[in-house]
Amino acid sequence: RAFLQRLWQGAVSARMLAPRLQKAMRDYLSANKHGVRFRGRRAAGRGRAELLCELRRRVRVRTLDGTEPPFSALGWRRLVPPVPLGRLHPRGLRSCAVVMSAGAILNSSLGPEIDSHDAVLRFNSAPTRGYEKDVGNKTTMRIINSQILTNPNHHFIDSSLYKDIILVAWDPAPYSANLNLWYKKPDYNLFTPYVQHRQRNPNQPFYILHPKFIWQLWDFIQENTKEKIQPNPPSSGFIGILLMMSMCGEVHVYEYIPSIRQTELCHYHELYHDAACTLGAYHPLLYEKLLVQRLNTGALGDLHRKGKVVLPGLRAVRC
Ligand code: C5P
Repeated sequence: RAFLQRLWQGAVSARMLAPRLQKAMRDYLSANKHGVRFRGRRAAGRGRAELLCELRRRVRVRTLDGTEPPFSALGWRRLVPPVPLGRLHPRGLRSCAVVMSAGAILNSSLGPEIDSHDAVLRFNSAPTRGYEKDVGNKTTMRIINSQILTNPNHHFIDSSLYKDIILVAWDPAPYSANLNLWYKKPDYNLFTPYVQHRQRNPNQPFYILHPKFIWQLWDFIQENTKEKIQPNPPSSGFIGILLMMSMCGEVHVYEYIPSIRQTELCHYHELYHDAACTLGAYHPLLYEKLLVQRLNTGALGDLHRKGKVVLPGLRAVRC
């Protein structure tokens, strides 16, 4: 509980984590599996206005558009959706909800509030059926990692979870964002199922995030963090928050920074306990959350009781 209080105040460090999580972080730092070489500069202590301005200036949502090798030679220009992700809602969405999959959302009764937004973003295989009271039932968009496309347990091809919504997939690429290297050696081969899905469902908007976008977000986290963060991509949750900030007038994020319901239950829909799901091991999740805490414009009571953070859309940011 003391840790949670400090997280709400934005005053935590990885040194306060359990030794097991600290060890995992150190191992990821020394493995540096994606070849990260941070060339930016640390800008300590930026305030909210400055951080938002920097985000607005720099964050460009990018998806594979088939114009670069190797995808250009593979006919991806005609394969990807004709309308880019950023232009699906040309006048922007007004108010958007980002629903994290954390166990802490159980017994929140947030469902009606979540459904009242114009658009709702969910992650991976997080269901709504059976959990409507706490997570709502509207889904506009899903961010899915490459394991969802490749692991047969997820039934990506025929599960209703992935139908009639906007799909955005991603996979950890090398920090260099060398698309040839990535295509030859993705973390999980999402390219084959993507092509197959596009051919079978040409009218469903389905995008793959460009590695440059993902690593741009990582650079931003590291620049604004005093400690050395894990050299691995940000979590789907952070990617989703930034995606919605670029598409919506206002973004309400649920159970990213944990509420008083904080629990080690990893997902609301799964009986699996691990503090790493909330505090991070592979992903620089703790640092992502500290940054989002600094950006919060919502009421502290909403953070404590609902686990809700309110963020302005980047279009509304005045620099
Ligand atoms: O586990 P999964 O990636 O599907 O969850 C979606 C996102 O929700 C994560 O990427 C993370 O940002 C967030 N999350 C969290 N705490 C949890 C579980 C998920 O912050 N306990």
